[in-house]
Amino acid sequence: MSGGRRTSVHRAILLGFLCAFSSSSVAAQVRLADLRTQYRVNPIGIDVTAPRMGWKLLSPRRGVVQSAYEIRVAQRPAELAKKPLWDSGRIASDASIHVAYAGPALRSGQRYYWQARVWDGQGKASAWSEPAYWEMGLLAPSDWTARWITPDLPEDSTVSNPSPMLRSEFTVNGEVASARAYVTALGLYQMELNGRPVGDELFRPGWTEYDRRLQYQTYDVTDLLRQGRNAVGVTLGDGWYRGRLAWENNRNTWGKHLALLEQIVIRYADGRRQVVGTGPDWKASTGAIRSSDIYDGELYDARLEKTGWSRPGYADADWNGVRVVDLPMDVLIAQDGPTVRRIREMKPVRIFRAPNGDTLVDMGQNMVGWVRLKVRGPRGTTVVLHHAEVLDSAGNAYFANLRTAKATDEYVLKGGGEEVFEPHFTFHGFRYVKVVGYPGELTPDDVTGIVVHSDMPQTGRFETSDSMLDRLQQNIVWGQRGNFLDVPTDTPARDERLGWTGDAQAFSATAAFNYQVIGFFTKWLGDLSADQKANGAVTDVIPDVLARHQAEGSSSSGWGDVATIVPWNLYLAYGDARLLARQYPSMRKYVEYERAQAGDDHVWSGGRHYGDWLAFATTSADYPGATTDKDLIATAFFAHSTDLLSRAAEVLGRTDDARAYRQLFEETKAAFDREFVTPNGRLASNTQTAYALALEFDLLPDGLRAEAGQRLADDVDAFGHLTTGFLGTPNLNPALTHTGHLDEAYRLLLRKEYPSWLYPITRGATTMWERWDGIKPDGSFQDVGMNSFNHYAYGAIGDWMYRTVAGIELDPAEPAYKHVVIRPRPGGGLTWVRASVNSLYGEVASAWERDGGRFELRVSVPPNTHATVWLPDARLDGVTEGGHAVATAAGVTSAVQKGDAVEVEVGSGDYDFSYPAPALADPGAP
Ligand code: BGC
Repeated sequence: MSGGRRTSVHRAILLGFLCAFSSSSVAAQVRLADLRTQYRVNPIGIDVTAPRMGWKLLSPRRGVVQSAYEIRVAQRPAELAKKPLWDSGRIASDASIHVAYAGPALRSGQRYYWQARVWDGQGKASAWSEPAYWEMGLLAPSDWTARWITPDLPEDSTVSNPSPMLRSEFTVNGEVASARAYVTALGLYQMELNGRPVGDELFRPGWTEYDRRLQYQTYDVTDLLRQGRNAVGVTLGDGWYRGRLAWENNRNTWGKHLALLEQIVIRYADGRRQVVGTGPDWKASTGAIRSSDIYDGELYDARLEKTGWSRPGYADADWNGVRVVDLPMDVLIAQDGPTVRRIREMKPVRIFRAPNGDTLVDMGQNMVGWVRLKVRGPRGTTVVLHHAEVLDSAGNAYFANLRTAKATDEYVLKGGGEEVFEPHFTFHGFRYVKVVGYPGELTPDDVTGIVVHSDMPQTGRFETSDSMLDRLQQNIVWGQRGNFLDVPTDTPARDERLGWTGDAQAFSATAAFNYQVIGFFTKWLGDLSADQKANGAVTDVIPDVLARHQAEGSSSSGWGDVATIVPWNLYLAYGDARLLARQYPSMRKYVEYERAQAGDDHVWSGGRHYGDWLAFATTSADYPGATTDKDLIATAFFAHSTDLLSRAAEVLGRTDDARAYRQLFEETKAAFDREFVTPNGRLASNTQTAYALALEFDLLPDGLRAEAGQRLADDVDAFGHLTTGFLGTPNLNPALTHTGHLDEAYRLLLRKEYPSWLYPITRGATTMWERWDGIKPDGSFQDVGMNSFNHYAYGAIGDWMYRTVAGIELDPAEPAYKHVVIRPRPGGGLTWVRASVNSLYGEVASAWERDGGRFELRVSVPPNTHATVWLPDARLDGVTEGGHAVATAAGVTSAVQKGDAVEVEVGSGDYDFSYPAPALADPGAP
């Protein structure tokens, strides 16, 4: 703790130093930083007509608030002060996130600069921020003069075909002031201009419900153009659009033909404007990519590369032509959320020979992406890379759980020097790579793992005194990396990789701690609404691959509820009421679907439900496993979605709806109690999941909560372990905590034997597993039909770890950490925990440590927010902050004894609380 004391001493000195300045000193002034538009730094090509801006306040002082702001917007930085297009004027408001532009209509392709200043709590103005900008995309279909083209190549629609290459040339004459490329495709695309790549994004244009929403991307290509002849080349891939997807040999989900729409808009210094784009004059051919499929991998024959094809002057006389096709333009939308990128590189931890003779590379981490391979050898040599998640008990690579996914990249050498291969339109979930046919000796230098996922800012950090818990946190984060690849998928490895809704709702709260997922989910929820059936049913996977030809649909309870749960979790973490309003019709439609399914008595009986998927099962003759009645689950989720809908209605000022759905919630709760709860608080299904749902969804009469909590704790004690599946797991530890059974919750968290969160780690897991026993205690594998080693649903415990172990809580009344609640609940023998979340306002942190008989809690509260800090097992007169009695410390607005805890209200700043806490002093193993 001495390090902590030292920092607090430093802080005290710093504070004294700052106070020595007069109040008008520059050092004490608030500064603005990290300006964002639509959550992004200087985005180009957006189509939001009233973009929202946000900033962070920086100040060394405590208790900093914003009392007013002013924003101005102009077309050029120099015009901001003198000739703004829009000046908000001084607005008395504490809003520093989600501030919407309200000036004159924004024009296609135009860039807008903005800056802001704020007034603090004393009415003191900050300086104007540095300018930031956003740039509009193409807002109307008529802004596109390019035509959709499709390559005129012979193809067989029952297999993966060679990737089409499309090229064209154009002339630039004059000094270019700026140039933009607007691009999209049916299928995937990679673009080059004059031999250089355009953008570093992967899997463009992303995966959406293509029939209704197709994203285009915008690139600044000013520096890629040159005087005279220019050439553009685009390679297309099958991707999700027409590649193999879902079961059997399903292909061509959205269509059989790939297509490209690309338009470059050049603005010359002399004011001229030139537009060149796809049209009938383009040429088409194929090259080295012989096939590339998401599940199966890529076959790349380097002998067939077409050197120089995206440079001017390339001889394309023998290329095929293209066909201009009429495709709907009104489905085009600008990219708004993050794109997929190469995020990090991994080096192998070892290369070894397996017992069966295979050469295996161990990346040391179950990762998603591919391998970049360096190789030298004779022309025509073929190297095969076969990807696997785990080794079997004999130590050989295990492929069976990938089901029919071939997960194989094949590279044919052109010969004559070092060659470097990376696949283009596929990804693999793997830790091991079986390498066949490598010429010469394979060394770690030849292999690099390329980790790809949606490029979201990492916001969360969670560390403790227990290294296995840290590994669990890392496994959760790796599970998120591996499965947040443009859409939230169930698994990245086998022949599935679909946007399963149940998994996503279970994991969404945890996801929002670890990464900034608002953009990622905003896009996906747009597809959810687009896919929602006429009767309100939400499809099992989004984008909908499985039920797309059905007009009406059915939802599995706990899966379809993603429609209410994810928007609400996003609202809590980011306070984005606009998104909530956009999703509101979909949320309501889903609740109305549930109401119709349940009928007049509000008990949802029957239906097609996955239930508490993959709950604990046993071969014990007298206990078949933790089976929770599906009707109970369905009625519980119906009530819960109704509750969330009513809350959303309240936030949005829809008071009639808020009242009506509150009433429906109460009626459904009463129906639940009539149907599934005995007068003594026993549930019809005496399972952990049943109690956890009833408690966390607030479905029990107040008088029975303690009783139900006790029954839940008794069940945990009787088994000594959890028995929950996908639906119960996120609610289990919260339910125990909220009913006073923290010890049981910690015992579950820290248990190492099957079934538990830590058991897979004892078997070497580096990601979350789909099943509690993917590898069984005897070393054998679970059912090959469903045994992924990278599935995030059970990672939902991460939410509880942040909220309860570290104590970083959200307040629905002031979301996005506008009101931070820090309420750590130490336990489980942990001696220290450090966690933080980089919120939209800034860093929220909670770090506690118990040392001998003292408890220390260090907290960071961002400017323009305030916090309630709960000090567990504390006596008010024993608590100090920065060495002073807590009540007198700067920034502390109140400190009161509340039972065994002290509750402290603080403004922004860093705080260091310390007090004697004998009750917490003895960690004692759980
Ligand atoms: C997926 C799941 C999904 C489930 C539906 C599986 O195949 O991998 O994670 O939620 O199907 O029951």
